[in-house]
This record gives sequence, structure tokens and C-alpha cells, in this order.
Amino acid sequence: MRINKYLSQAGIASRRKADDLIRSGNIKVNGAVMKEPGYDVKDEDVVEVNGRPVEGMQKPVYLLLNKPLGVITSVKDDKERMTVNELVKDVDARLFPVGRLDYNTTGALIMTNDGDLTYRVTHPRHELDKTYRALVKGILSREKLAKLRNGVDIGGFVTSRARVSIIKEGKNSTLVEISIHEGKNRQVRKMFAAVGNPVQSLTRIAIGEVRLGHLKEGHYRKLTPEEVQYLKNC
Ligand code: URA
Repeated sequence: MRINKYLSQAGIASRRKADDLIRSGNIKVNGAVMKEPGYDVKDEDVVEVNGRPVEGMQKPVYLLLNKPLGVITSVKDDKERMTVNELVKDVDARLFPVGRLDYNTTGALIMTNDGDLTYRVTHPRHELDKTYRALVKGILSREKLAKLRNGVDIGGFVTSRARVSIIKEGKNSTLVEISIHEGKNRQVRKMFAAVGNPVQSLTRIAIGEVRLGHLKEGHYRKLTPEEVQYLKNC
């Protein structure tokens, strides 16, 4: 098997990132730096990434986690906050979150050891619609709704069209469902702040057609084969 595929199936990186690792001299085969992306890995080869042996091939694992508040989506945190990996530590695979969710955002997060799927789903060209439920301060006028739907300036970037619908209007707050196509940092919070209705709480309820449903916070489930196929075709 080609070394870039081998590294991606071992959960190290996407095939493209594996090519970068190979070119930059981070990969050794049987103790010698291997710079040929086309190298065919043999059964008896010992492959190392930055000096650490690759522990053979892992079966691909695809999970949907309901990320709780106060948990970060990086694999490690220097401030010792809880990471999403701690919530899936009973799964015997080296999993990575697919994309990010803010520390204070809850909801749908895909976790996998399939580097190619991660690359596909997070690539701007394939970016799937992400749907959020946002509780925002105040009332959204028609003008504000139109701005959110048609594009709003979030500081040097005008968002593309979004689907926005009001679920419930209270006296001092509004529950809104919003689907966006891009994934700029803190985009939903910035969009509502830009129209003067700051977000009070935010939950991602769907990634494309992969829906959170009734999954409880802090729990995860396996993606169905149909969901995995859908993400692979996105
Ligand atoms: N938009 C945000 O503001 N926060 C998230 O976590 C995701 C999207």
C-alpha cells in the first residue's frame, strides 16, 4: 500500500497532509528518512512519524458526539481544560474532531480516525451546511432577519446566504435556527452580534444531513453506514 494511504488509514493525517509529512522528512521507514510519496509499504516495514512507530492500521471509526459546554475541540489543551477526546476515551482508536466548536457551544461534532474524511468534510470546497439553534438577546426585526439571510459584515468578511427562521419569540430573547455554509471562526456569534442581538447560548443541531436528534450532552453514537457514505460523497 502507498505510504500516504498507509499513514491516512493509520489515523495519522489525510493523504495530502501525509504527502507533506513525507516531503518534509518527518517519516522514516526502517530507520531511514523516506521522501517518496509513492513508496509501497511492505508488511515487515517499520514506519515512524517524528520518531514514533505507527501502530499498524486501525479500523475506521466514525462517531457523532454531543459536545457539552466547557469542553474544547483540540486534542490537547495547555490550560488543562477538558477535551472532546476525554469523552470518547473508551473507544479503542486515535480519534480526531472534524472541525471545531467553541468552548461555549454545545452539540454535533463528528470524531473519526479517517484523515481523508476529515479533509473532505472540512475543505472549504465541500463545506457542508451547519445548522445551529441560537438563543439570542432581544427581538429580531424583519430588517435584521434580511441582513442575516443575505449577508452580514462580521469584520472584514461578508457572510454568504443563510437560512434563518424564528422558532420562538420571548419578551427579551429569541430562539432562532440558522444554517450557514461557511465556517469562519465564531461565525454565528459574530453574525448575531453584528445585528445587535448577541448569542446567549448556541447548539449545533446538524452537520449537513447528520442530525444530533435526541443524543444527550456528553454522549456519542456511531454514525450509520448511510451517514458515513453521505459524508464520503460530500
Ligand atoms: N459559530 C460560532 O459562533 N461558534 C461555534 O462554535 C460554531 C459556529
